[in-house]
Amino acid sequence: MPTLHDLEILARQAGVILRAGYGQRHTIDSKSHAIDLVTETDRQAEAFLLDAIQRHWPGDSILAEESGTHDGDGGQWIVDPLDGTVNFAHGVPIFSVSIAYAEHGTVRLGVVYDPMRDECFAAERGRGAFLNGHPLRVSATENLAQALLVTGFPYDVWHNPDNNLDNFARFAVRSHGVRRLGSAALDLCYVAAGRFDGYWEIRLKPWDVAAGGLIAAEAGAKVTNLQGGDDYLSPPQSILAANAVLHAQMLAVLQGED
Ligand code: IPD
Ligand code: CA
Ligand code: CA
Repeated sequence: MPTLHDLEILARQAGVILRAGYGQRHTIDSKSHAIDLVTETDRQAEAFLLDAIQRHWPGDSILAEESGTHDGDGGQWIVDPLDGTVNFAHGVPIFSVSIAYAEHGTVRLGVVYDPMRDECFAAERGRGAFLNGHPLRVSATENLAQALLVTGFPYDVWHNPDNNLDNFARFAVRSHGVRRLGSAALDLCYVAAGRFDGYWEIRLKPWDVAAGGLIAAEAGAKVTNLQGGDDYLSPPQSILAANAVLHAQMLAVLQGED
């Protein structure tokens, strides 16, 4: 099994690739929808991570955003080589590398690295969450009216009426504000760091939230799906993270009870 330090090294190395590609001209392709983008930097960072994982942990399986599933008998790596591609492609310096390691379906290790700020968020299940080695704790804000929230919108937002805009409007008039940062992995880490008080989103993929979800939980967040259940990785995916008191208030709003 890899160590948390192994994941940190890999994330920092992939971060070097992202930093080198940042601000350069890109070939930008669309994937499932017109606004679901991929650049050659996404592919380069993923190719680097796949190669390194397969060389050092040849028995493990890998789920990676750009290349899908790579089978193996050991643990599972869940990799988003560039979370925040739309920001990256537009020259907005808010994006990250996200790497999680799971055993028997339980995420054990998670690292999210922001190469533009040199911020490495990391957690091992049961051992707390850290930013560049310093312990993290979620905010103690217990009143939604004083909370700063963050969310995002699915790539089919143009066409699917179930697009989270209604929730955005409801929280915007009940809180200090709702931000849209553009990297789900960083959104969760910012909750872990107490920068945001709460985060929710719908229809994400495991690579967006596997590492960040563990980091938020290890920093003291309650992390569930929008029904309040434990599974925020499997479809139909949704996620809500905040301290327990705020989590209950946010769940009530999301379920239309407030
Ligand atoms: C996206 C980001 C964004 C979220 C999107 C994700 P990508 O990941 O995490 O914040 O709102 O839905 O797909 O495509 O940049 O890796
Ligand atoms: Ca992503
Ligand atoms: Ca990505």
